[in-house]
Amino acid sequence: MGKLDPYRIREDFPILKRRIGDKPLVYLDNAASTLKPIQVIEAIASFYKEHYSNVFRGVYTLSREATELYEEAREVIAKFVNARSSSEIVFTYNATEALNMVAYGLGMEVVEEGDEIVTTVMEHNSNLLPWMHVAKVKKARLVIVDINDGGELNYEQLSKVISERTKVVTITHASNVLGTVNDLKTIVKIAHEVGAVVVVDGAQSVPHMKVDVRDLGIDFLAFSGHKMLGPTGIGVLWGRLEFLQEMKPFKLGGGTVKEVTTCSITYEDPPRRFEAGTPNVAGAVGLMEAARYLMRLGMEEVHRHEVELLRYTLKLFEEDLHDYIMIYGPRDPEKRCGIITFNLRGLDSYTVGKMLDEYGIAVRVGTHCAHLLHQRLGVEGTVRVSYYIYNTKEEVEYLAESLHDIVGNHCSARYC
Ligand SMILES: Cc1ncc(COP(=O)(O)O)c(C=O)c1O
Repeated sequence: MGKLDPYRIREDFPILKRRIGDKPLVYLDNAASTLKPIQVIEAIASFYKEHYSNVFRGVYTLSREATELYEEAREVIAKFVNARSSSEIVFTYNATEALNMVAYGLGMEVVEEGDEIVTTVMEHNSNLLPWMHVAKVKKARLVIVDINDGGELNYEQLSKVISERTKVVTITHASNVLGTVNDLKTIVKIAHEVGAVVVVDGAQSVPHMKVDVRDLGIDFLAFSGHKMLGPTGIGVLWGRLEFLQEMKPFKLGGGTVKEVTTCSITYEDPPRRFEAGTPNVAGAVGLMEAARYLMRLGMEEVHRHEVELLRYTLKLFEEDLHDYIMIYGPRDPEKRCGIITFNLRGLDSYTVGKMLDEYGIAVRVGTHCAHLLHQRLGVEGTVRVSYYIYNTKEEVEYLAESLHDIVGNHCSARYC
């Protein structure tokens, strides 16, 4: 495994040949979704061309082949996050569905009136709304831990609010706005001391760094395939087997039961219990290829590359845009994943996003489904740049130059 070469990698991504008007595409919206390499596209096409059928139900060759591929995908994903067994990998529609599965299947069962669910102000709505709902229905309290002014979690407050009443601690591994990477080991230690279950939203960490569920000591992890080179419509819930065995299925239907009588249901063991109906087999096959692609590069290298781009971005922003830019989140690039979020003085985020599009640059603007965090930051929206394996230093320079142009043409005032 050598040093990650973004120029070599770019050759695998057909869409990077696209132009936006007369400009080459500069894709910096990877936290929303990543582009797809030809290996993933071809794996999906080959599944449909050569092995397609439904899974689990057939005794014929094609159905066996499709089932084997689907289960092989589970094995590869188990290896990717270092699960103890592939039975701990549940395929879902996306990270959002995986988080809802835990909230409904576990939260509704273990949380009782007067209990507390601890979460943070930096959560994406997908890890906030399901728990708000559980708290409301069960008459429990949702406790929201704050960040400090540097955009890091307030660990002191976290350790104070976690108590015997805490049943669940549900937290993002990496913020989709600030880029902050939370110290899960510290959080797990505090939570497990009081017997709370730790649920982790890994949507922004799993695609970008080595995430080892056993090393972290967490209880659940949710992530999406489309943010890690895979197709849309496939996500993952990893859970400790003993928890999955106790957890109620959130959706009921075909494939989830061993036996049904008019008065009783015997559910399948995990993970099948949670995968009601025909699953997204082609999605799992594509995700398997995506995970293999990332493992060939090495997740440490993926992270190192993003931190390098981030460090360079912060340097150029500091030099070229100093008085005109407000950057959110930790200044130390080692403390964040490849996300940098900012505002330009006097311009709303939508205007900046539209202007950058004229340069061929794709970024995300608005609240990024993190309303609480934007309220905390006191802003209506932000501009978010997010990197991945195919982004280059030249693209960072082009971004900084384009923002410099925009500032020169449109910003009349400075931050002071
Ligand atoms: C931190 C975080 N959690 C959850 C999600 C939801 O992911 P999905 O829309 O794929 O379910 C996102 C998507 O942006 C995210 O950034």
